[in-house]
Amino acid sequence: MTTNRTFTMIKPDAVENGHIGAILDKINAGGFRIVAMKMTQMTQRDAEAFYAIHNERPFFGELVAFMTRGPIIAAILEKENAVEDFRSLIGATNPADAADGTIRKLYATSLGENAVHGSDSDENAKIEGDFHFSGREQF
Ligand code: CMP
Repeated sequence: MTTNRTFTMIKPDAVENGHIGAILDKINAGGFRIVAMKMTQMTQRDAEAFYAIHNERPFFGELVAFMTRGPIIAAILEKENAVEDFRSLIGATNPADAADGTIRKLYATSLGENAVHGSDSDENAKIEGDFHFSGREQF
């Protein structure tokens, strides 16, 4: 089922480097509607749960340490074909491979510190959005 929604995080590196505004401008210019957004900081437990799929990978500890070291912006975005179009807007996971003009090409510094998250499927967009926006918040 296509929901036309995706989930994103502006990661601690991009927040630290002052790129929140520029990244939100790219998201708006890309035609995405911001359905929900907040600044928050993930706990170790949050990050371990959010990235549980990677828990056997050698970079897992580094990933959890990075994602918990400072605030992030978490947001649910809406647009037709949101998951795929957002992944095009952010570019390849490794900024060295990201196309010119993409958010990671412009603002990411390394494979591990790659500025933004984008859901990889409609199913994960729903799971990840619910992870950060649940309880009293209804969208
Ligand atoms: P993302 O795809 O948003 O979510 C998983 C993250 O793990 C990915 O971004 C990278 O930041 C990180 N990651 C993936 N591969 C590596 C790697 N080889 N070394 C360090 N971090 C990685």
